[in-house]
Amino acid sequence: MTSSFPEQSRTAWAPAPPPQCPAHARPGATDGLARLFGPEAAEDPMGLYERLRARHGSVAPVLLDGDLPAWLVLGYREILEVAGTPARFSRDSRNWRWFREGRVPPDSPLLPMIAWQPVCLFLDGEERSRLRLAVTDSLERFNRRGIRRHITRFTHQLIDGFAERGEADLAEEFCEHLPMLVLTQLLGMPDEYGPRLVAASRDMVAGTETSVASNAFIVETLTELVRRKRGSHGHDVTSWLIEHSSGLTDEEVWNHLRVILIAANETTVNLLKSTLRMVLTDPRCHASLAGGQMTLPDVVEQVLWSEPPLMTIPGRWAAVATEVGGQKIEAGDMLLLALAAGNHDPAVRPDPSVPLLGNRSHLAFSSGPQECPGQNIGRAIADTGIDTLLARLPDVRLSIPEDQLRWKSGWMTRHLTSLPVAFTAPRSAGSAEPAGPAPALADTERDQGSGPDGGVPPAAEPAVPLSSVVPLPVAARRRRTGWWNSLKAWLRG
Ligand code: HEM
Repeated sequence: MTSSFPEQSRTAWAPAPPPQCPAHARPGATDGLARLFGPEAAEDPMGLYERLRARHGSVAPVLLDGDLPAWLVLGYREILEVAGTPARFSRDSRNWRWFREGRVPPDSPLLPMIAWQPVCLFLDGEERSRLRLAVTDSLERFNRRGIRRHITRFTHQLIDGFAERGEADLAEEFCEHLPMLVLTQLLGMPDEYGPRLVAASRDMVAGTETSVASNAFIVETLTELVRRKRGSHGHDVTSWLIEHSSGLTDEEVWNHLRVILIAANETTVNLLKSTLRMVLTDPRCHASLAGGQMTLPDVVEQVLWSEPPLMTIPGRWAAVATEVGGQKIEAGDMLLLALAAGNHDPAVRPDPSVPLLGNRSHLAFSSGPQECPGQNIGRAIADTGIDTLLARLPDVRLSIPEDQLRWKSGWMTRHLTSLPVAFTAPRSAGSAEPAGPAPALADTERDQGSGPDGGVPPAAEPAVPLSSVVPLPVAARRRRTGWWNSLKAWLRG
């Protein structure tokens, strides 16, 4: 996320840090303290993390927007410690000293991510367990159902939009759209909500002058969805949250739907972009996929190690005075987890060239009681979407040299701005998609709540997986076998 503030106003606002702030607790650390906002961080965030690690060790003092001090946790083990001990490192942002002292300006670009809300993300203890259980149980029910068919269907739909041109920008025309389209099905919304929600959520996260209106549109859409689903349940996460034994109020339901949309969309968009880039540009990856030594899920896992979709996450707030990574932390200090730096920590990966095939112990989904509950959905969107795209456009290739690809960084994420490709236009685009209405949400059940409530209309399931009706070249067929078996194992698991 980039700041929407002019540089001048930030500098003008910067408070004079009091002596007890983390940055000033270290003698000699007052000068040249690294800013997580600004050109140096945006240009080369990984380089910045490594410089901080070399200078401060596994926990470094940094400045956030407005020059608010915080700690950046860079070590793999230290991230596990902070994420895994909520009694010392709370999720409740109301603990932040700078909030309590009224030193966070009302238009701070940090606020969309850290302003306290009544959702599991910002709670500890029993209240958190109650809400988190409702979210995990509801996502888990969806996991086992027909998600792959939705991913395949929307992938074909998006490819239909550009296939005849023989060229596309896959970042803009594919990656930016697929996750939100799948999420509309997950939440039980009509298909046509997808493009509007993509636009609104991108605008909200970008911090533009219409961000507030975009947020209002999302809240209004979700409130109306909850109202309709109360009257007519379907097989979707909204209905399962409403029905859950945790007894969520309507406000709690729409607030958690909003958390799911925000947590799921941008992360999965970034994962799709990075995985596609690796498939299109890394010759070892191409050869391993074609030779059957690597499957797409393996590539996704590799990307989650090397380029986690969220490089840094806010936040944990010290509930007590404590210590981590040799640094003294005062009660009320804020800590950020540098997941990308943790994945590259030499203390656990002394030789970064050692292959990580089959190793899922990266930090991309965080760890501990807050670990991402939607990770298998994110993985499924990335590998099913890309598998379907490669099957449909087998000779897809990058149409500019790799070194001309452009990235955009914020304090939390780094992502490709475009991914221009060329391919042989298929003879009849969309012919792989069987005619007829959308497939139903559940594998074994129909959406009872479809129709007036705006749920997915009931429909016949395709007899065979959609992408299997596309003629595949031998290499792609080999590639599919590994992926297909893993998906089946995951769906069964
Ligand atoms: C591949 C893409 C994804 C990545 C890299 C990712 C990563 C993360 C991370 C790092 C967290 C924060 C954990 C913490 O604070 O310690 C998180 C939380 C969360 N994610 Fe994901 N996520 C992804 C996709 C999804 C999807 C697809 C969904 C839902 C469908 C989802 C739902 C959530 C929710 C609800 C939370 C809050 C959990 C809580 O506070 O208990 N995420 N995710």
